[in-house]
Amino acid sequence: VETSQSLEEIAEAKGMFAPRVTWVHHWTPGLFSFRVERPQSFRFTSGEFVMIGLAQPDGKPLLRAYSIVSPAWEEHLEFFSVKVPDGPLTSRLQHLKVGDRVLIGRKTTGTLVTDALKPAKHLMMIGTGTGLAPFLSILRDPETHERFENIVIAHTVRQREELAYHDFLYEEIKTDEIFGELLRDRFTYYPTVTRGEFHTRGRITDRLRDGLFRADLGLSIDDRPDTRWMICGSMAFNKEMIEILEGWGMDEGTRSNPGEFAVERAFVG
Ligand code: A2P
Repeated sequence: VETSQSLEEIAEAKGMFAPRVTWVHHWTPGLFSFRVERPQSFRFTSGEFVMIGLAQPDGKPLLRAYSIVSPAWEEHLEFFSVKVPDGPLTSRLQHLKVGDRVLIGRKTTGTLVTDALKPAKHLMMIGTGTGLAPFLSILRDPETHERFENIVIAHTVRQREELAYHDFLYEEIKTDEIFGELLRDRFTYYPTVTRGEFHTRGRITDRLRDGLFRADLGLSIDDRPDTRWMICGSMAFNKEMIEILEGWGMDEGTRSNPGEFAVERAFVG
């Protein structure tokens, strides 16, 4: 601790929370996840993000937007982060240990919520890198399963080691006590790797354009009107996905004006 003020005091003064870290997991040298205790009054909608951070030496909060990985009903809050070697925040966050405190804002927000989408049969959640985070929340929200019959999470990364949550999405969720039965026949995990060996190679955008994605899922162009999309990744990826979806005649939705797809623009991968 570099400051004379404790993180709890700083949180109090700024109207934030300072929960303790309960779990840390490093996926690769560049990616990790962590959990904090959920403050009792903390509420959010699955798919939203919140400001997270630490205190600077002068006591000012250093914050960044993080999508919440855990669903809205879960007792902890989980986050998935890159480790940027010279990043002001992540170079410090990556050293978090169980028992440390982090700053968390009170206000959650975001456009990647099921309310932004018109009702349909299929929900495709397409992400790159840590853009996977909000989909892990949405996947485990009962509301999602009331609204959509068939759910797909596509995750594109450079190297297969970066497929964080792979075992969870590929295997564990299907035997999960709560979601196992519900998801077994209705959920498909679709990982792709762009710069290394893997059974499914290449950018998801290319697979969407050339029809491989829908062929792999057993869908046809006729299923498009009954399909909704959620997009979360780097700016270049988001832009390309919007071009593809708009090219198919789809409109972006918001909470007040639901559409065919939703994009998280606050996210910086
Ligand atoms: P690629 O390896 O071909 O650049 P990053 O780590 O740069 O954020 O990228 C994460 C993943 O997203 C990588 O697999 C990368 O593929 C892919 N990606 C980056 N930009 C785009 C884009 N415009 N469209 C589709 N995929 C992209």
